[in-house]
Amino acid sequence: MPRTRLDLDRIRAARRTIDPVYLDTPMYRCDALGRRLGCTVSIKLETANPVRSFKARGTELVAGLLAEQGRTAVVCASAGNLGQALAWSGRRRGLGVTVVASVRAPAVKLDRIRALGAELDLVDGDFEMARERAARIARERGIRLLEDSLDIETCEGAATIGLELAGGESPFDAVLIALGGGALATGVGHVLKTLVPETEVICVQPAGAPALTRSWHERRVITTESAGTIADGVAGRFPIPEVLDDLLVVADDAVLVRESSIIDGMRLLLEHTGLVVEPSAALGVAAVLEDRDRFSGRHVVTVICGSNVDLDAHRRWVHP
Ligand SMILES: Cc1ncc(COP(=O)(O)O)c(C=O)c1O
Repeated sequence: MPRTRLDLDRIRAARRTIDPVYLDTPMYRCDALGRRLGCTVSIKLETANPVRSFKARGTELVAGLLAEQGRTAVVCASAGNLGQALAWSGRRRGLGVTVVASVRAPAVKLDRIRALGAELDLVDGDFEMARERAARIARERGIRLLEDSLDIETCEGAATIGLELAGGESPFDAVLIALGGGALATGVGHVLKTLVPETEVICVQPAGAPALTRSWHERRVITTESAGTIADGVAGRFPIPEVLDDLLVVADDAVLVRESSIIDGMRLLLEHTGLVVEPSAALGVAAVLEDRDRFSGRHVVTVICGSNVDLDAHRRWVHP
């Protein structure tokens, strides 16, 4: 049993709080994509839901808890997807939701947060500046600050994906997981290392935003001065120590990929699966493209974690 902050019983119980629309998402083999990549590829589709990303699995738990406690408001910093998910989960439960995001976040993400009725507070800086501002708002208003990947519910929500992967019909050799703050990888990793420990858990980050991957390799927190990547969902610079500790227990590897591979991954996903995905969701395919020998003949699963993407940008990347 991996020793992390997570607990399998709590993760199983979490399924009862999360709206079923986010659970039991499709998982299927994509033979055309697999032939192109030289391995068997299955995708776990986390985009066919009202907020087009997996993040609502966690926000459902947080919002459920806050509603139970009689709280009325919550604030979070977000690259875009967490904010949208919290807005969705909060609205159903009558919670006032404030989301702090960067002015440079994709317009579609900001528009969808507003459309879900959240108050949107924009900072002229990156995600780390949004984190600082969200913490200040929480202090000033005396409301709950939701911190993605640090707050255990965000990891437990993501971990329910791990239960579905482990309970699937066909066994697989490796899972490729986009790595941002780390909730997705620590959650899924904890479950897989508990239930199917022989499965390789591989985290994937863009080379332009490598802080947590570098931290994992050096076994200590490494921060970066800047983050430059089209994968806006995973562009953090300040890894959270508690999350790194968990990741050191459950991840077998953490790899970095080039921007050109992320774009190739998006193109392949469109061509061979018909999916329009945001760059973060193409990280797994990018990792296979950059190291075909490692995956040759094996069965890999990649989590398609988000599809909130500006369509003009997607077109420019995929059809230059
Ligand atoms: C689409 C997408 N993929 C991956 C991630 C990374 O997830 P985590 O921050 O849990 O590592 C995020 C984070 O918001 C995301 O929005």
